Amino acid sequence: MKTEEEKQTSSFSSRIGLIMAAAGSAVGLGNIWKFPYIAGENGGGAFLIIYLICVLIFGLPLLMTEFLIGKQSGKSAFGAFRALRNNSRWQWLSWSCMVTAVIIMGFYFVVTGWCFHYVVAAVAHSFKGLDTGSFTEHFNSLVSNGGGMFAYAVLAVLLTAVVLWFDVNKGIERLSKILMPLLLVMMMLMAGRVLMLPDSNIGMKFFFQADFSKITPEVVLAAMGQCFFSLSIGMGAIITYGAYMPKRQNIMATSLQVVVLDTLVAVLAGLIIFPAVFAFGVDPAEGPELVFVVLPAVFEQMSFSWFSSILFFGLLCVAAVTSTISLMEVAVAFLTEATATRKHPLNRHKSVLVVSAIVLVMVALNVLSLTDNGSWLCLHGDNFFDWSDTISANILMPVNAFAMALFVGWFMNKTETRQEIGKKSNWQYRLGAVFLPLVRFLIPLAILAIFLNGLGIL
Ligand code: TRP
Repeated sequence: MKTEEEKQTSSFSSRIGLIMAAAGSAVGLGNIWKFPYIAGENGGGAFLIIYLICVLIFGLPLLMTEFLIGKQSGKSAFGAFRALRNNSRWQWLSWSCMVTAVIIMGFYFVVTGWCFHYVVAAVAHSFKGLDTGSFTEHFNSLVSNGGGMFAYAVLAVLLTAVVLWFDVNKGIERLSKILMPLLLVMMMLMAGRVLMLPDSNIGMKFFFQADFSKITPEVVLAAMGQCFFSLSIGMGAIITYGAYMPKRQNIMATSLQVVVLDTLVAVLAGLIIFPAVFAFGVDPAEGPELVFVVLPAVFEQMSFSWFSSILFFGLLCVAAVTSTISLMEVAVAFLTEATATRKHPLNRHKSVLVVSAIVLVMVALNVLSLTDNGSWLCLHGDNFFDWSDTISANILMPVNAFAMALFVGWFMNKTETRQEIGKKSNWQYRLGAVFLPLVRFLIPLAILAIFLNGLGIL
């Protein structure tokens, strides 16, 4: 007979396995694609400072919040709130997580598809000898070709669905244990190369020198949204992982490791992109295409450029897919749990099919909105793709995170929460003393203020 604890432990291969899965969820396109372009649009250094403050004030405690909800309830985002409160008054929050997941997946799979395309293009030597202007053209021709873009996104959806279908998450975890450190090393090499380019100091200044006059309410909201997105907070993904957490595993230590790793990758991405942006004369506020224009140009400067670009875009695809797995898992676990007591319950396989179908519709809308035929999908000059990105990070995730903080702070058992965070003799205990006041007062108030201010309501 296995004890309760062993049973729980076996659902996640090891402590390190859970950290890898959570880190795999966190580290993804958010760090390497989104962080540089949002930072570029929001003033560089000023954004970086606010971002790092957000990671400290919101990131770490909210990651702990989600782990705590999952670990205490042993349920996914669908059942967790209900199980802990014994009523369904918080059920809207589960639904809100599900809606957020579907919206994020719609554009995330499209960008993952871009990464797949770049691997293929790198293999085919398409970047050889091109200049920066031609990289822009290359990207534009990819985005104007709806059929091609859709095909790559479908490939990404299928790959993710297959992983969830065969439940081979563990294999992916083991794989990413080797590949993620490789991605880090690769990025360090790239940063080193980029710093030797002429004018790289202008980019360093842009990224590290904070011009406080550039800090506006919108910049702060963008930084907070980016922090939530990058750490996978505010959508229930971490709740689902928390449910698999071995009893003995410490929530704060795990969260801290994920936060440090995720932030390291984002800052490294900035260290590569911004010096390169100025060296190649690209506009840092260029938008979502930024890294796809700049990175191939970086490889043209590196030795073994063919091999390096294939390796890097390949690793980027792996990082993206470990994130799409966590996104889709939320929706699949939700559907399975939600229909379990119905007349026609959806098992895991059926749920994977239903979720994939919904996601494909969202992907199609996103792809269409980027092409010339999609002008009807535009609102206020922004297309469906931009809106999905902004609404999820700047509205839905802050609202969900706000509610989750209140939930842990006011509606969960405080003694249990304190015990969960640390034993009296541990360093976690002292830091944990800050946790409850943070989630009860500071975090909800701060999210509310930044949210209303950023939307121009306050
Ligand atoms: N954090 C991932 C990234 O940076 C994206 C992601 C994966 C995510 N799972 C999530 C975002 C859950 C929000 C919620 O690329």
